[in-house]
Amino acid sequence: MGQNLEIMIYRFLLTSIVATMILVSCGGNDEANTDTKEGVRSEASANKLGFINSDVESNDGDALSEMPQYSKAPAGTAERIDRAFENAPPMIPHMTEGFFPITKDNNICLTCHMPDKSEAVGSVAIPQSHFTDYRPNLIKSGEKYVVDAEEGEVVAKKLNKLSPARYNCSQCHVPQANVTVDIKNTFESVFRNKDSKNSSNLNENIDEGVK
Ligand code: HEC
Ligand code: HEC
Repeated sequence: MGQNLEIMIYRFLLTSIVATMILVSCGGNDEANTDTKEGVRSEASANKLGFINSDVESNDGDALSEMPQYSKAPAGTAERIDRAFENAPPMIPHMTEGFFPITKDNNICLTCHMPDKSEAVGSVAIPQSHFTDYRPNLIKSGEKYVVDAEEGEVVAKKLNKLSPARYNCSQCHVPQANVTVDIKNTFESVFRNKDSKNSSNLNENIDEGVK
C-alpha cells in the first residue's frame, strides 16, 4: 500500500511538471509585444534583451542613439542634483575627467571633500557617517566567530579617520549623464522634510526602523 501511494505521488508530481513545461513553452511569443502601458514595451524574442531595441548577437545595435554626455562643468561651477530619496548617496554633478581610477595612494575627491577642506573649496563635506564604523566586532565563541552585538543593536564606532569602507567614493557616488530612454520613470521621491532633498542626516537616524 505504502509503495502504491509513493508511485501515485510520483506520477502526480511528474504530470504537474510536464503540464507546467507545456504551459511555459506555449507562453513564449517570438513577436515583440508593444505598448502594454504608456512608454513601456515588452520584447519576448530570444535574441532581444529587455527594453533595449537591438539584437544581442550583433555589435552594431541601436541601444543608444548617441553616446551619453557627462557633465562638463568643472567642480565649483556645477549645479547640485536633488537626492533621489532620503539619505540616498548624492550624485556627482561636476566633471570627473581625470579623477578615476581612485587608487590606494590617489584619491583626488578627498582634496576637496574632506571636512577641513570643503568650506574653502565650496564643496559639500564628507558626512560623519563616513567617519563611523558600523561593523560590529567578531568574537570567538567556541569554534565559531560571532557578532559582538545584540539583536537589533546598531553598532556605530566613531573613527578619527575616513572609514576604509568609504574610500572608493565612486562605488556609491556616480556622475550623471544626459540620456533619453524609452522607459518612463514613474518613481516619485518623498521627503519627510525639505532639507533632505539636498542634505543628509543618516548619522542621526541610522537605527531608525531597526529597533
Ligand atoms: C576640485 C575640487 C573637487 C574635486 C576634486 C571633487 N569635487 Fe565633488 N564637489 C566639489 C564642489 C565645489 C561641489 C559642489 C558643486 C559645485 O560647485 O560644482 C561638489 C559636489 C559633489 C557632490 C554633490 C554633493 C551634494 O550634496 O549634492 C558629490 C557627490 C561629489 N562632489 C563627489 C565627488 C567625488 C566622488 C569626487 C572624486 C571622484 C569629487 N567629488 C571630486 C568639488 C570637488
Ligand atoms: C558605501 C557607499 C558610500 C561610499 C563608498 C561613499 N559614500 Fe558618500 N554617501 C553615501 C550615502 C548613502 C550618503 C547619504 C547618507 C549619509 O550621509 O551617509 C552619502 C553622502 C555623502 C555626501 C553628502 C553629505 C551631506 O551632508 O549631505 C558627500 C559630500 C559624500 N557622501 C562624499 C563622499 C566621498 C568624497 C566619498 C569617498 C571618499 C564617499 N562619499 C564614499 C554613501 C557612500
